[in-house]
Amino acid sequence: MKDLIDILDLSIPEIDKLIEVANDIIENPENYREKCKYKKLATLFFEPSTRTRLSFEAAMYELGGNVLGFSEAQSSSAAKGESVSDTVRTVEAYADIIAMRHPKEGAPTVAAAKTQIPIINAGDGGHNHPTQTLTDLLTIKREVGRLDNLTIGLCGDLKFGRTVHSLIQAMVRYDNIKFIMISPKELKLPEYLINEVLVKKNIEFVETESLEESMPELDILYMTRVQKERFFNEADYVRLKDTYILTPDKLEHAKPTMRVLHPLPRVNEISVEVDKDERACYFRQAKNGKYIRMALILKLLGIE
Ligand code: NCD
Repeated sequence: MKDLIDILDLSIPEIDKLIEVANDIIENPENYREKCKYKKLATLFFEPSTRTRLSFEAAMYELGGNVLGFSEAQSSSAAKGESVSDTVRTVEAYADIIAMRHPKEGAPTVAAAKTQIPIINAGDGGHNHPTQTLTDLLTIKREVGRLDNLTIGLCGDLKFGRTVHSLIQAMVRYDNIKFIMISPKELKLPEYLINEVLVKKNIEFVETESLEESMPELDILYMTRVQKERFFNEADYVRLKDTYILTPDKLEHAKPTMRVLHPLPRVNEISVEVDKDERACYFRQAKNGKYIRMALILKLLGIE
């Protein structure tokens, strides 16, 4: 495999291996400090990011490599009208691997077809976000100890939330996974995921608007931000943005072993008082993102 565009580009054994390497990096960081010496990662971010871009950059630095790139389309030649194809064909001359985020669904696929070097999809529009999913899988494995036999609540913007889309595709490959989709009607999961993934694979799922009623059943609660930038009109966003707010009193009805994940950034959907709860693991999750990206960079560059 040359690129990571979709989480399904990785088999389960490949994901297991990435998790194993990430755990080893956490235990023995000194063994990895020179693995990517003289290698360069380009981060091409045509959309805002904090964790994804900075964790990629920190990952490459911790592997002894270097980083170049841009963090907004406005500071690249995209602002002059350059195509994605031309941008990546140029960057290929300067870097060994590219992590790219773009508002258009499919842009990383186009980039991958035009280059010889690995392209990592760091989020394409409302479509996919496979490295967030790797982060989520590492987090679930470390926090809960397993990736099978889980009831997972996905809450918030299931329509535009690309992290949810990739996570569903990844989790349906494990045994005995049940989903509770918690969203307002307007932000329900896209039909293609319901029909082509959940129904086709016979996965147990329910759709509900109630976070409270779902709480006692959940092993994982995956909260998401309402994706403001994907709305066609401001009024809809304003009406829907605060539909769910996780507070300590709602968590009283959750299992003591439940874990709350969120890809971040959070806006209002988790009150800051929840941060103190041991079950809140979104900042640990953000930290895990660096280690799994280190493992991924090594894999795509073919470094042992
Ligand atoms: C997510 C994204 O960009 O899709 N953030 C991230 O990468 N951690 C989630 C979001 O922006 O809401």
